[in-house]
Amino acid sequence: MKYVVVNGSPRGKKSNSDRIISWMTQNSQEVQKVYVADIKKHDEAMKVILDADRYLMVFPLYTDAMPGMTKAFMEKMQQINLEEKSIVFVVHSGFSEPIHSRTVERYCAYFTKANKMKYLGCVVMGGSEAMQVAPNGYFGKKKDYFEALGQNIMKGELLDQALLQKIAGAERFSKFKILILRFLPTDMYWNSRLKKNGAYEKRLDKPYS
Ligand SMILES: Cc1cc2nc3c(=O)[nH]c(=O)nc-3n(C[C@H](O)[C@H](O)[C@H](O)COP(=O)(O)O)c2cc1C
Repeated sequence: MKYVVVNGSPRGKKSNSDRIISWMTQNSQEVQKVYVADIKKHDEAMKVILDADRYLMVFPLYTDAMPGMTKAFMEKMQQINLEEKSIVFVVHSGFSEPIHSRTVERYCAYFTKANKMKYLGCVVMGGSEAMQVAPNGYFGKKKDYFEALGQNIMKGELLDQALLQKIAGAERFSKFKILILRFLPTDMYWNSRLKKNGAYEKRLDKPYS
């Protein structure tokens, strides 16, 4: 069985997606990785995809969907015959609540069905941007759960539902947590990123209004 991992992040090798992939594949041998960020190599990647039987596709939520280059990659995948091949998705998001990713999770199931593939499941995890600064220990047992799900893939099994639930956590914040969050400086990290990229002053722009 040939196993291909698709990193669906525009950040490529420096992405949080890559860190999740490393957790899920650390006990797997002979895994071939392709990066959707290598946009000029999508056609080349399709040959690798066609030659494999099992896939893991990991991508971040971008504006409540997948990044554009990931969608373009999936559309290329739809042009080749993937019948009976197995696929697992990981959708992770900056916001902590998994509910943000549920629509795209449904799309992943639809994509699998439309291509007559075998759907082994979809992992949804919120709060992934913390990976840019947090050590592995910050994620506690989640790293182990991802590793165990990686084993499910190796065996061609459906993903363990209990582990999916543990990784996702509560679907929405409680009212109490929302109250606490109001008093925390949660914008600090994002504002520092905006400043670093020279976009802070433009953060309230409305180019389409
Ligand atoms: C352009 C852009 C759009 C984003 N849109 C969302 C979003 O709609 N919802 C969300 O929860 N996170 C959103 N995020 C946060 C990413 O999902 C998050 O930072 C993720 O960890 C990035 O993973 P990566 O390093 O693998 O690319 C967005 C990030 C960027 C850069």
